[in-house]
Amino acid sequence: MASMLEGQVALVTGAGRGIGRACAEGLADSGARVIAVARTGKDLAELGKHESGRIETWIADVTDDEFIERVASVDGLSILVNNAGGNRPQPFVEIDTEALDFVIDLNIRAAFRVAQAAVKAMLAQNVSGSVINMSSQMGHVGSPRRTVYCMTKHAIEGLTKAMAVELGPKGIRVNSVAPTFVETPLTMPMLDDPEFREFVFGMIPLKKLATLDDIVAAVLYLASPGAGSVTGHSLRVDGGWTAH
Ligand SMILES: NC(=O)c1ccc[n+]([C@@H]2O[C@H](COP(=O)([O-])OP(=O)(O)OC[C@H]3O[C@@H](n4cnc5c(N)ncnc54)[C@H](OP(=O)(O)O)[C@@H]3O)[C@@H](O)[C@H]2O)c1
Repeated sequence: MASMLEGQVALVTGAGRGIGRACAEGLADSGARVIAVARTGKDLAELGKHESGRIETWIADVTDDEFIERVASVDGLSILVNNAGGNRPQPFVEIDTEALDFVIDLNIRAAFRVAQAAVKAMLAQNVSGSVINMSSQMGHVGSPRRTVYCMTKHAIEGLTKAMAVELGPKGIRVNSVAPTFVETPLTMPMLDDPEFREFVFGMIPLKKLATLDDIVAAVLYLASPGAGSVTGHSLRVDGGWTAH
């Protein structure tokens, strides 16, 4: 599969750890040249030494104007994995405006602006592209202590569909990946709580968490020529959580 994405240029946000990091490695292993973005230099240092030699790292904050401008001028950009995101789980009535603004700014505002800048780069260079927005099963259902997160991921689903409709005629496909829980630095503290773990496994008919490899496989499919007729889709990698 080392040549499936040869000649493609991919930008992956939130690539220092977790899902984004695995996607950056998977895309590079599949032949793409990858720009991996996160704020923490030490997370990116090792990734930059990836054996493929195809991963370039950018230390940047996706909420910064300067970063957005840089994305709009990436040479040959053809794949965006719009992955940076976060969560501050709290009961609905306890969420303060700081937490509300933090999650909305990162999960919606920055994701929108990164997608917009990436599409500008693709259109300016007449490149057929694939945008993959990292959503969640929470983009399809509700869950306790997750009102803000669910709201933002439902927004990502709306963005994905509207972008797909508008940009399809220009050769740009736009899809989302909607994972269930995957063990990453974001979710490890949540999954360390036995009561929460029991709740999660109780919700997943397949009785297992998704793995990083499961998510990478979905991203690679959506980025690949094999998904050439797939747009506006949300690929749920959720073990059946949302089938309830
Ligand atoms: N893990 C799950 O169970 C799960 C399930 C469904 C959906 N998701 C979604 O998948 C995505 C990734 O989740 P994850 O679990 O891999 O998260 P994670 O382990 O917390 O990793 C997030 C990555 O994003 C980077 N990041 C955070 N804020 C950033 C910013 N402002 N600018 C640039 N980079 C930033 C972080 O690095 P720095 O802090 O160094 O910047 C880190 O590399 C998120 O959109 C999340 O909502 C995750």
